[in-house]
Amino acid sequence: MKYQIPKGLFDILPCGADEEWKDIDHWQYIESIIHDVAKDYCYKEIRTPTFERTELFQRGVGAASDIVTKEMYTFKDKADRSMTLRPEGTSSILRAFIERHLDQQAKSHKLYYLAPMFRYERPQAGRYRQHHQLGVEAIGSNQPEQDAEVIDLLCELYRRLGLKNLTVMLNSVGDPQSRIEYKKALKEYLHPHLSELSKDSQERFEKNPLRILDSKEEKDQKILKGAPSLLDHLSEDAKDHFETVQKLLKQLKIPYAIKVNDKIVRGLDYYTRTVFEVVSTDLGAQNAIGAGGRYDGLIKSFGGPDLPGIGFGAGVERILQTMIAQNLNFPILSKPFVYFIPLGDKAQKECLLFTTQLRKEGIPADIALNVKKIHNALPAASMLNSDYAVIIGEEELKKERATVKELAERKEKALDLEDLVNFFKELYNKKER
Ligand code: HAM
Repeated sequence: MKYQIPKGLFDILPCGADEEWKDIDHWQYIESIIHDVAKDYCYKEIRTPTFERTELFQRGVGAASDIVTKEMYTFKDKADRSMTLRPEGTSSILRAFIERHLDQQAKSHKLYYLAPMFRYERPQAGRYRQHHQLGVEAIGSNQPEQDAEVIDLLCELYRRLGLKNLTVMLNSVGDPQSRIEYKKALKEYLHPHLSELSKDSQERFEKNPLRILDSKEEKDQKILKGAPSLLDHLSEDAKDHFETVQKLLKQLKIPYAIKVNDKIVRGLDYYTRTVFEVVSTDLGAQNAIGAGGRYDGLIKSFGGPDLPGIGFGAGVERILQTMIAQNLNFPILSKPFVYFIPLGDKAQKECLLFTTQLRKEGIPADIALNVKKIHNALPAASMLNSDYAVIIGEEELKKERATVKELAERKEKALDLEDLVNFFKELYNKKER
């Protein structure tokens, strides 16, 4: 029997194989930029377990949400407790924040994470059953400056990666009380059109009417054109907050278009006030490459202190796919500087010593083992993107010399074996500088 990867999952490989975005070099590059940006904004990394008690997500994401009703990977452990693979990061982070009393520690309020998430969704381009998110959660401030900082951080990540043509869709879903009033107004408006709405929207009418607003169905969108706007139902305070966020984002000179879109409501129930989605025109139907918002009542509802919070999650797969669609450059992060090609047993032993010596000097080096023919080994050096190949055969050994090939320039020269390590040390240091 031949085993196959389950549907909706993918391998990240030493080379992209069938699709370039699955190349581990690209992943490591993005991850390094994520850590850099987080460091510059003074966010600390947090790592929580892959699974949690099911109730956490039911309470956090919302019992009526699509994630909880349709998409969770839930299982019973051996003691018959219900566990769920994390479908999103915020609930777990807040659980850890409360349980570990991070509010009492000054440096633990601005957090970021990079982790796989699991959702049983219908797989398609840009939508997977395991995807990876960069997420941040800034806990403790209700100030609009905090909203602006979080959105700016996300955009700075995109900017450093070189992404273009993104739009930040911004909305305010107001406070719980104004949302109740708005829901009433929306249902009153939609009621006469109920039978014309899509099946999904009809189902949402009672359970989660706000979610009808971000329906992608054409017939729903037509009806929604005349719907009352969330923004006309905000409290004075929420309105001021939202206006200040917009002003701040202008002042911060975010390098992407910012559009207020009163139909953005998000699929998770915990949001209050600011919500946002960053979309790329270079992705297909799944065009959100990052999204988030404020969740001011959530920590308290988890039994924690009454602290506000705001954060986002950004899909690493979609960021990579956008970068590839935009023909952006990825640096090659891991490649040999020197690739040794020994011809014969004795030379192989000698080359292993040189390879090891270079590695211990911090110079990436590799060795071809079992070489039968030089013209089979040389293409491997080029395929690995090595800068140099060093060939040592029986003849060279006798003369205590090696042939050094500079692969890009197609130049070669002979070098005494005793000078080999110093030669590459000098070259490598010059290159690194
Ligand atoms: P979310 O919108 O469900 O929010 O997911 C965040 C991002 O993850 C999406 O914008 C998208 O880029 C990516 N994503 C989501 N589902 C998939 C999937 N099936 N396949 C590929 N990529 C996907 C959250 O999860 C919130 N926890 C974000 C947040 C943090 N809000 C406040 N703090």
